[in-house]
Formats: sequence, structure tokens, C-alpha cells
Amino acid sequence: MQLEDFTQKDSVKSDKFSLNFSISKTNKKSEKLDTLYDISKYLDKNVFSFSDEMKELIPKDTPPYLDNGENYVNRIARALSFFKQCALIGPSGTGKTHIVYLVSELAGLPMWEINCGLQTSVFDLFGRYVGLGKENWLDGLIVNWCRYGGILYLDEANMMKQDVATRLNPILDQRGHLVLTEKDNELIPRHKHAYLIISMNPFSAEFAGTKPLNAAMRRRMSVWLNFDYMSVGDKIDEKEIELVCDRAHIDRDSAEKIVRIGAKLRQEYQQGDLPYGPSVGDLVNWAKIAADGNSVEKSAEETIIALTSDDIEVQEEVRIIVKRVCGGDSFERKFV
Ligand SMILES: Nc1ncnc2c1ncn2[C@@H]1O[C@H](COP(=O)(O)OP(=O)(O)OP(=O)(O)O)[C@@H](O)[C@H]1O
Ligand SMILES: [Mg+2]
Repeated sequence: MQLEDFTQKDSVKSDKFSLNFSISKTNKKSEKLDTLYDISKYLDKNVFSFSDEMKELIPKDTPPYLDNGENYVNRIARALSFFKQCALIGPSGTGKTHIVYLVSELAGLPMWEINCGLQTSVFDLFGRYVGLGKENWLDGLIVNWCRYGGILYLDEANMMKQDVATRLNPILDQRGHLVLTEKDNELIPRHKHAYLIISMNPFSAEFAGTKPLNAAMRRRMSVWLNFDYMSVGDKIDEKEIELVCDRAHIDRDSAEKIVRIGAKLRQEYQQGDLPYGPSVGDLVNWAKIAADGNSVEKSAEETIIALTSDDIEVQEEVRIIVKRVCGGDSFERKFV
């Protein structure tokens, strides 16, 4: 399967914004996506209709999401259709943002994305008066979503400021509404196609800086989906090797080494022994440098080793793992 580069930035989108994915104007890929996934039973894009401006917010050309029969795409679509909202939990780099873009594209739903860790202001989220005499009201992102529908994606939802969380709670009751206290208490009913997906890293000692999701929001989520790395420890996923080969145009042996090292590093990260666990995107970047005529080991220096930490001692730990796998390893091969 030929996959395109897939990069994204954490960002908050305003009502007129450009999507973060590189967009090529062919519809072939969308057609191909539709043959890979059928979510029409849950979210049928033919029943939604949005203005041209809103259509601009529907992601395009999202690469497929690879899983091992977990059917995440369908389960998210089902949760949205039954309950209007769901939560995705998993370590950084396990494809949570990716899959939300994919579901939005498949469902033909505009996507509104907020990274709660960025502490975006209440003004940007709910709205404000603008103009010289402050006479014109400008809706914020959450208000736009509530009025016109689409998928609101709250990344790092557990990092949300309490004042924002408190205002969201009434909307999250399925037929909820939003009260705009700043604008004469205008009551905005939740659009019938306004769906919500929240995501976050699991709350545990190893994930420094995370905190638990507030109880009010937790209660309002009916479906929770857990995400994990494709390969961790000795469990190596053949599909991840293929993905690295495809995206970096590297030979299979090198891709396998890279994935096996990545899997080991993730295990150390999950055990709290390393400060960072690499995503498949990180492994692809490393593979791209290697594919440009460098050895896997040498290209690790300016990619995975430096990426994991600035601390020389931690870098040395990563280097040892890289060397161990590159120089005739004795790990057991286990493909799932
Ligand atoms: N199962 C998968 N199939 C295809 N690509 C994947 C998969 N898992 C991760 N990726 C790729 O890994 C990279 C990181 O994914 P993404 O940013 O969606 O992770 P995330 O879980 O949202 O991370 P964070 O918690 O840091 O926001 C992306 O390039 C994405 O395409
Ligand atoms: Mg993300």
C-alpha cells in the first residue's frame, strides 16, 4: 500500500483556516478510502449538508489507519452515531489525531480541532466583540461547531482549563446547549450533527505532566477506546515495518531494524526508563535519513537519539539499544 507523507501540527483552527495535511486535489484517494472502510451504517455522508465554507474544513487525502482487526474507525463512527461523542486514550504518537481526521473525511464532516494543552483563550473558543466600538460579535470555535455541526476534536482534553471545561458540560449532555454569557445569555442548541471526540494520554506516573480528566466530562463519555503503539517490546507488527518501508522508501531489513529499536524504546518509555517513546512518524523520519545513503546506526544520531533527550546519559542508553539491534541481535522475532 502506497502511503503519502502525513504530517500535522498542533494547532487551533479558526473559522477560516487551512488544513494541516498536505492536500492534493485528486479524488482518487477518497474513493479508495471509501472502499477500505464503510461507516455509512453509522455516519452517512449523504445525509449531511454543509455550506461551501464549512466543506473546506473536511479533511482530504488522509492515509489509511492500520490496525490489527480492532476496527477503530468503525467503533468511533458507531460511538458518534449512538452517543454523539467518545474518548480516545493512548500514548503520544499512537495515531489518535490521525484517526479523527480519517473519520471526519470518511463521514464528510467538518473538523474543528483544539489542543487543550495550548491553553487557548476563552475568547478564541467562545467568541468576542470586535470592531472599534466593540459592536460586532465574532463566534469562537466551539460556538461555530455548536451552531453548524461537524466534529469537535479536543486533543489533550485532560489539560483543559477548568473555566472552559465547566462551560462545555451542558453542551455534552446529548441534546445540550451552550449559553453565551458574554452575549446576553444567548442560548445555542447543539446542532444535530455536532459530534465530539476527546483524546488524551493515559494518566499515570510515567506520563509526566498529565492529569486525570475532570469527572463531569468523564461521566458524559459513553465509549472509551484505548490506543497503543503498533510494535512494543518484543511484539513487532509486520504492518509497521511495511509502513516504514512505504513512507521512507527504505529496504525491508533496515525498516525492520528501525521498528525493532523503536519497539524497544517504547517499552522503556512505558516503564518510565526513557522520557520519550517514538511514534511511527518518528521512525519514518529516521528511515528517510537512512535511505539517503546512511547506515541505520549512523542516522540514529541525528534522529532518534537526539529526539529522545538532550541528556547525554539518556542518549547513551538509546545508542546502546540501537547498537544492540544493529550489530547482530539476539532478540526473539515475534510477528503479530
Ligand atoms: N496505526 C497507524 N496507522 C497509520 N499511521 C499511524 C498509525 N499510528 C500512528 N501513525 C502515524 O504516526 C504519526 C503520529 O500519529 P498522531 O499524531 O495521530 O498520534 P497521536 O496519538 O495523536 O499523538 P499525540 O498524543 O502526541 O497527539 C502520524 O504520522 C500517524 O500517521
Ligand atoms: Mg494528537
